[in-house]
Amino acid sequence: MADCAAMDADTAQARETAEGLRAGMVDRLRDQRWVRTRQVDAAMRAVPRHVFVPEVPLETAYADDSIVTKRDTEGTAVSLISAPSIVAMMLDQLEVEPGHRVLEIGAGTGYNAALLAHLVGETGQVTTVDLDADLVDGARWGLSAAGCGHVRVFRGDGEFGYQEHAPYDRVIVTVGAWDLPPAWLDQLAADGRLVVPLRLRGSLIRSIAFERVDGYLRSQSIEMCGFVPMRGAGAYERCTVPLTDEGDISLQTHDEQTVDTVALGNALNHPRTQVWTAVPIGAEESIEWMELWLACTMDGLCRIMVQPQAVERGLVKPAFGGSVAVFDQDSFAYLTLRPINCAEDANHKGTTRAGYEFGVCAHGPGSTELVGRVADQIRTWDRDHRSGTRPQIKAHPAGTDAPLTGQFVFDKQHTRLVVSWPETSK
Ligand SMILES: C[S@@+](CC[C@H](N)C(=O)[O-])C[C@H]1O[C@@H](n2cnc3c(N)ncnc32)[C@H](O)[C@@H]1O
Repeated sequence: MADCAAMDADTAQARETAEGLRAGMVDRLRDQRWVRTRQVDAAMRAVPRHVFVPEVPLETAYADDSIVTKRDTEGTAVSLISAPSIVAMMLDQLEVEPGHRVLEIGAGTGYNAALLAHLVGETGQVTTVDLDADLVDGARWGLSAAGCGHVRVFRGDGEFGYQEHAPYDRVIVTVGAWDLPPAWLDQLAADGRLVVPLRLRGSLIRSIAFERVDGYLRSQSIEMCGFVPMRGAGAYERCTVPLTDEGDISLQTHDEQTVDTVALGNALNHPRTQVWTAVPIGAEESIEWMELWLACTMDGLCRIMVQPQAVERGLVKPAFGGSVAVFDQDSFAYLTLRPINCAEDANHKGTTRAGYEFGVCAHGPGSTELVGRVADQIRTWDRDHRSGTRPQIKAHPAGTDAPLTGQFVFDKQHTRLVVSWPETSK
């Protein structure tokens, strides 16, 4: 009896600790504007995230980080619970209402499905699918332990949605997609909304909220995110191109990009070419729209992955460990930054915060030409598209003859994506 009483006290204390940590997490997410609505705030306060990741300490469960929950035989992460900030942002994009029927692709731990269940309430329905039986079992267990046993969890390839419970008012994809397969649109209600982390080109992925308009989908919001790639019928592969023998610098490309790995592997034997663009970026400002512009204008958009020791060796100096980069045959270029005081920049009067200037570094036989092209595109974005209305993405069925003048087109297997950038003048 004494042991049981002690266990009860321990459990009560653990619950209290978890509640405190959860409240702190949601307070921070609200202050940082990741949580923007009362409904998402309430759902995140109610659903115990730690129940879905029982293997980590409570402090880890309530930090704003993703946690890998399954790796493949090569050690690559195939399932994880997304960072709470990304979860909140996508729920905000989804605009779920009580009574909605929601389909989630990528059940993972079941945490997001539990939040969806809270948002749709007793009159709504949540269906979630995952590819692997062990993940489905884990999600069912977590949902039941969190009091959300009514969420329906199925094993299946999310490429085909889940026809039995269609139509859905909302479809949310929580795994990286390269295309919009027909099932997602067929199973979405006429006035429904789809939120999907969609890879446009190379490693450029954005969480896009789409709604239907006259036979196509139009973006309602576009947000930065990162996701593990889909497996199954809609799978796509990331490719790693090592640039050093040590493997501490590499380019991350994707399977639809044709890469001469031998020629690129020699690029670092050529000296660095570098230009500064005179384009500033505030210390708190996001580079997401500039990256999207480069994805639209540069075929070889990829990412340079750099270990700290490679920077210490002075080989490269990227803006970040996973900076945006561009390859072209035997050469590659990447983004770099240097600190400036924006107030002193004659071209950008009125900017008073300290910040950085965009630069571009390149290596390889074609580095001079490539560095110039990338820098020109950064200046074009700054001059014509930086301020004012944001770009819009339309998704048409593949084969559509949409008017394309002045727009960027990404042809996928099922979809023609068209990105349009309204021009702005300073
Ligand atoms: C980032 S995790 C999802 C996180 C999850 N929503 C949660 O709250 O824990 C991505 C999930 O997508 C799953 N997945 C990958 N390809 C899939 C496919 N074709 N169909 C269904 N699920 C898939 C993975 O197994 C993984 O569990």
